[in-house]
Formats: sequence, structure tokens, C-alpha cells
Amino acid sequence: MNIIKHSLAVLGLIAAPAFAANQVSISIDASRPGPVISKNVYGQFAEQLGTGIYGGMWVGTKSNIPNTRGWRNDVVGALKALHVPLVRWPGGCFADTYHWRDGVGPQDKRPSNISDGRVEEINAVGTHEFFDLIDMLGADAYINGNVGTGSVQEMADWVEYMTADGGSPLARLRARNGHAKPFKVAYFGIGNELWGCGGNLKPDYYANLYSNYFKVAYFGIGNELWGCGGNLKPDYYANLYSNYENFLRAPGNSRPKMIASGGSGFDTAWTDVLSKELKGRTVGISVHQYTIAGTTWEGKGKDLGFKEDEWISTLANTLKMDQLIKDHVAVLDKHDPEKKIGLMIDEWGTWYDEAGARSALFQQNSLRDALVAALNFHIFHAHAERVPMTTIAQMVNVLQAMILTDKEKMVLTPTYYTFQMYVPFQDARSLPLAIKDNTSYTMGATTIPGVSASASLAKDGKVYLALVNTDPHKAVDVAVDVAGAKVNAAAGKVLTSAAMDAHNTFQNPQVIKPAAFSARAAGGKLSIKVPAKAVMVVALEE
Ligand code: AHR
Repeated sequence: MNIIKHSLAVLGLIAAPAFAANQVSISIDASRPGPVISKNVYGQFAEQLGTGIYGGMWVGTKSNIPNTRGWRNDVVGALKALHVPLVRWPGGCFADTYHWRDGVGPQDKRPSNISDGRVEEINAVGTHEFFDLIDMLGADAYINGNVGTGSVQEMADWVEYMTADGGSPLARLRARNGHAKPFKVAYFGIGNELWGCGGNLKPDYYANLYSNYFKVAYFGIGNELWGCGGNLKPDYYANLYSNYENFLRAPGNSRPKMIASGGSGFDTAWTDVLSKELKGRTVGISVHQYTIAGTTWEGKGKDLGFKEDEWISTLANTLKMDQLIKDHVAVLDKHDPEKKIGLMIDEWGTWYDEAGARSALFQQNSLRDALVAALNFHIFHAHAERVPMTTIAQMVNVLQAMILTDKEKMVLTPTYYTFQMYVPFQDARSLPLAIKDNTSYTMGATTIPGVSASASLAKDGKVYLALVNTDPHKAVDVAVDVAGAKVNAAAGKVLTSAAMDAHNTFQNPQVIKPAAFSARAAGGKLSIKVPAKAVMVVALEE
């Protein structure tokens, strides 16, 4: 089955008959495993923003909250259970105001500064602390460099500081700061959202340059720039990238994989230019795509207490990720038919209005977010060949978080549980899957497929099937057959609840969590009843 057909099937979009039958049929072909679903698709983004790091994950060694070298034991323990493969840090927009030298050396000597114009950055968490965290998690590092307010020299020095062996002055500085051995930087991103917070790269050169500098200075910015103008379009960034990349020093064996910062959402112009210009010099182009409930950025919708129209609009909006990936992949296929450049969706997830938020970009996380995560996983799996990495925004206390904290308290969110249920999909082989007689779910003028599914052959040798029922009212029966394997039973977990916005609070942290699920074949047929508004992951057994 080709990738397009495969992804259509995964989304349940392959032609359903006009009269949907009561039972949906899913056929999995276990005899023809497809591309590997990289574990890095389950990566996470941790930005120095709000209480994402400070308070949420890092409390410092003097805190009464149990910690290991400053990192909260409860949060690190919970994250370990997710097998987090990769963490992107320090931003986001924060990366473009971050100066790495402020975050190394004795903690009590590090300067405080104002990051992103909003919060005081105390720099207690810097390079060494970040690598300590990812060592504890057993994850890889994806570091994002500062193009917005940094310099080529500053970025080159940071890469050298992290990766050089003993023979370099910066490696010696690193050793004096407590880490003689080089750090392993798996991925390095050159800039972030260059079209936005990374410098507002608009068509006119000066407008771009001005915007870029304006973020940090309030005085005359340049002079007669019309004399040396240009267009900071993607081509400009391609040059900028080359300039930065040229000076990044890292020994051959520890050279990070370089990622170019791409366009916004459906805008493929950046992917077009970058894949043409940077071929052979980048493993990926990043794209950010957030899911809102509303129709405009000014009215993104509420995290809780929403009505059914916002349930369906959120799910319908998130399903657009499939088309977005197809659009970018079509461009990549043109310039990179060898498939050497990946589409790195290094910011995705829900973003609601920040009404009464406890800290910047804090939002509650409900059953709806669990479905959003699962639907996106199915889309990423279907595009496994071109989507080797994604990092959800964000890990703790920010946007679609895994974990929420309030001082010493911690709760696990429905999104956390979804990530946990999907662990077997990390580094599994995707399996072709076809959905017949899919249900559909309609609310007002919007209709989306009722069932979304994805299957894989996991590293433990088992076939896993993940199912989402988007309908908040009706359970659905799914008949499963697997070509190339004998299947008589299914066992795993299901996540659902009575309310669409069911969520865990600090007072009541166990409102929603996965329950055990199992089914046995009867008369040679395996049928699985998926409850309304549910995410389910089961291993299929003989
Ligand atoms: O994830 C929050 C912010 O969203 C990031 O800092 C930025 O890259 C994006 O716009």
C-alpha cells in the first residue's frame, strides 16, 4: 500500500459506503511491515518559559521538594515512564534571546536577565543542568541555537563548548565547570521561527532587520539600510544558515545533526527554498503547527468548560496536520527524492486562551487533549518515512503538557497517559491498515471520521493497534483482522471519561487515567468495543 493510501486509511478517509454499517472493519497486514516509526516522533519540547522549567521541573538543590541536583524527583520519575527519547531546549522564542555563557559556571555567579521581555531568567538551568536532566531521562538532546540576538561566533563557541574534546580552550572551560567529557548533542537547530519571534522576517530587508534588533534595543537601529537592502525571505535564511553552519565547530564523530528552521504551518515556501539550498547539509526542516479550538488566534477557545462545537472543531483542526505534512512532503519530494531531509514538527499540540493562567502559557489538559495527541500520532505514523522527529509543546506546565505542578504537588495529564500508552510504537515498524465502513461524527457543519487507527509491529514482536473514537456520544464496534498473524485476543489500555473536558487537578488527581481493556475473539472474529470519546492501545494476541 503506498504512503498516501496508507495515511488515508489511518485517518479513516478511504471511501465509506453511504450507509455506514454498525461495525467498522480494520484489516492489518502484518506480513508487510512498513517504515520504522522513529522513537523521536515521541520527543518533547522544554522551554525556559513560565513555570515550564523553574518550579515545574527545576527547584534547585536547596528546595524542600525532593530533588536530584535540583531536578524534581517526582517529575523526572514520571517522565522516565514515558521513555522520552528526545528533549528540545532551551526554546522556542526563548532560544533567540538566550546567551549560553550566562548559564555555565558556578550557579551563584550567573547573571539574571529578562527573557522574552516577560520573566526573569535566573540562569540556574544552563547547559550542564540540561544535560544532567536528559541523562537522567535517558533521552537525546536537541539544542536550539540563538540566531535572533546571537552571533555566528556565539553559536560556534557553544557547539565547541558542548562537543569538543580536551584539546580546545572551550573544552577545558567545560571541564573546569565540571564536565570533562564532551556532551552528546544529537540535533542542533539553527534559529527558531525566523518568520516570527526569531526575527520577524518579512519581505523587506530593513523591516526584518529592524524587527530583529527591535526585540533587544530602543535606539536608532542602523542607518540608511535602504542602501544595502535585500529580502529576508527564505533565501536570506538559507544564506544565514550557511554562514552559521560554516562556523559551527564540532569534531567529526560528535557533529550534531543540523536542523534548519522552516516556515509557519501550511506555508511551504520555506521548505521549498531550504530543501533546494541546504540539501546534504541539513537532516531536517522544522515546521510548527498548533491546534486551536476557535477559528482565529485571538479566539483560540477555552481549555475547559467548552461545548461540543469546540470538541469537534479542535479535533477537525488537529486532523489538518495530515494535509500540512502532505503539502510539505510534496515539496520535499521534488528537491529531495532520496528522502534525506525530514520534516521535523518540533512544536505541535493544543494552544488555548490563557484565561487566568497560573503562569505564562499554562493551560489545563483534558480528555480532548488526549485525543488530539493520539490523532497526531496516527498521522505521524502514516508519514513515518518523512517525519522522523516531532517535539510536542511542551513538557511541563506550558501548553499541551504531560505534567502540571503547583509547588510540591504534581498531576499527570490525559496527554501524559496517551504518551505512555503509545510507548510500544517507539521504533516499531508501521503496518499497512485499511478501515472499512468507518463511522463518521458530525456536529453542526463539521464532519470528521469516527474512528482513527494505527498499527505497528513493535520491538517486542507483538502487533499493536491504536484506536481513537472521536464521537463523544456513541461507542463503536471494531472488527479486527490481521493478515499474516493469528489473532484471538486484544489486551491493553483505554482512556476515556464521562465528560469531554475530564481532567486531573491538584485536589483530585485521579479523575481520568487509563483502565485495563481486553477482548477475546468469538466464532473466529475479534471485535473490540471502543467507548465514546476514547483512546485505546491494545496488543493483539494469539
Ligand atoms: O511554544 C511556545 C512558543 O510558540 C515558542 O516559544 C515559539 O517557538 C512558538 O511560537
